[in-house]
Amino acid sequence: MPRSATAAIRFFAGGFSLALSFGALAQGAPAEIQAPSPASLDDAQRAGQKLFYQHCGVCHTKPQINAVQYGPTLSKESGGGQDDAMRQIISDGTQRMPGFKGFFKPEQISSIVAYLKVLPPPPAAPVPSPAKP
Ligand code: HEC
Repeated sequence: MPRSATAAIRFFAGGFSLALSFGALAQGAPAEIQAPSPASLDDAQRAGQKLFYQHCGVCHTKPQINAVQYGPTLSKESGGGQDDAMRQIISDGTQRMPGFKGFFKPEQISSIVAYLKVLPPPPAAPVPSPAKP
């Protein structure tokens, strides 16, 4: 097996076991994501929220305020705000993100997209204040 393939498999194995352990931690949404309360979501959005914290949170949320987050914070504006673009990224992945098309059913991907569409865009990065003399 070529080395790069072995590395890719190791990457996936690591990612998924991390995802599993994160799932246990992610019962409550991390504080700095303004997670909508489950009561305000419809069934599809609620299902999507659960899948999101189980399978995506490991890279797309911060477990702690000072932790490093691997992927961008997601919101209704991810993928340019286009449902189809979100669906395609989730299915096929990117260079740094695994694709989920063999893992989720199309309805599950739709419910994740429905959930992302209720997330407000993250605040713009704070502008560093000029050093005081
Ligand atoms: C292994 C880490 C990882 C996992 C797991 C992961 N992603 Fe990603 N995702 C990334 C990275 C990194 C990017 C940024 C694109 C890039 O650099 O290739 C990204 C980008 C995205 C984007 C595009 C963001 C934008 O601003 O356009 C969406 C949407 C997305 N991911 C959704 C998901 C969903 C939904 C899941 C769970 C089903 C998920 N990701 C799981 C790492 C991950």
